[in-house]
Amino acid sequence: MNAVTPVNPSQAIPLHQPDPLITIEKLQVRFGDVAAIDGLSLIVQRGEFISLLGPSGCGKSTLLRAIAGLVPAADGDIILRDPKLRTGFMFQKPLLLPWRTALGNVVLPVELQNGGNVVDSTDDYRARRMLDMVQLGDFVDAYPQQLSGGMQQRVALARALMGDPDVLLLDEPFGALDELTRDVLNEELVRIWQSRETRLKTVVMVTHSIPEAVTLSDRVIVLTARPARLIEDVPIRCPRPRTPEDPDAIAIMKHIRMMVRASR
Ligand SMILES: Nc1ncnc2c1ncn2[C@@H]1O[C@H](COP(=O)(O)OP(=O)(O)O)[C@@H](O)[C@H]1O
Ligand SMILES: [Mg+2]
Repeated sequence: MNAVTPVNPSQAIPLHQPDPLITIEKLQVRFGDVAAIDGLSLIVQRGEFISLLGPSGCGKSTLLRAIAGLVPAADGDIILRDPKLRTGFMFQKPLLLPWRTALGNVVLPVELQNGGNVVDSTDDYRARRMLDMVQLGDFVDAYPQQLSGGMQQRVALARALMGDPDVLLLDEPFGALDELTRDVLNEELVRIWQSRETRLKTVVMVTHSIPEAVTLSDRVIVLTARPARLIEDVPIRCPRPRTPEDPDAIAIMKHIRMMVRASR
């Protein structure tokens, strides 16, 4: 018989025990003579929703691409806790193939991985489930031009989730959409991040909107103008679900705004 050891409360694991997923150490990324990132250190904990906030051209997209291994580090390190860590990437534009349906676009990464247009029924089922999750279950057969901008970004999100990522890297994913659509999609993003339906637990999102960063994140990483350096790492402890009207959130937004102004 297995003995059941009672848990001593003093030994219980705290809810937010540090659990580094991605460790960035003194990272430098260069494009020729231009240093896009210079000496940036940052730890992404497993389970966190982090926003990278900074002025246009400061190196936010470069940082995200470096985490995904799409641009090399000139110096410093990016250490993944698990070399097999799965990342999903989403860009500001949906980048859908116009001749493929929503379903056809979502299964594309699997087809490319399989090296041909081979998709089995499990992949097909999973793609439909991802489209359901982003509220597009009725639009699996629609072509991109039949979908609104917000719906196209939903397809792009379903495609990013198709590879069952541990971490989602989002580069201003809803930045090109109107504010109302963006709010709805941000709420859904938080719902998917919090749900246990997928492996996804960690999100790193680039934004230049202070309210968006504060409303969505556990932590906001505020960066200087290029080359990106850390100004402040701001924890957001307001309870969820959050609204931009939350007085504590508003106070943090003011603090960040003043900090960004002072750094100019
Ligand atoms: N592929 C590239 N080749 C040359 N310069 C680049 C490239 N990508 C980005 N840069 C430069 O690096 C800097 C940071 O760019 P980026 O990371 O796109 O900024 P952000 O996303 O914060 O607006 C900019 O000066 C940009 O011109
Ligand atoms: Mg960018």
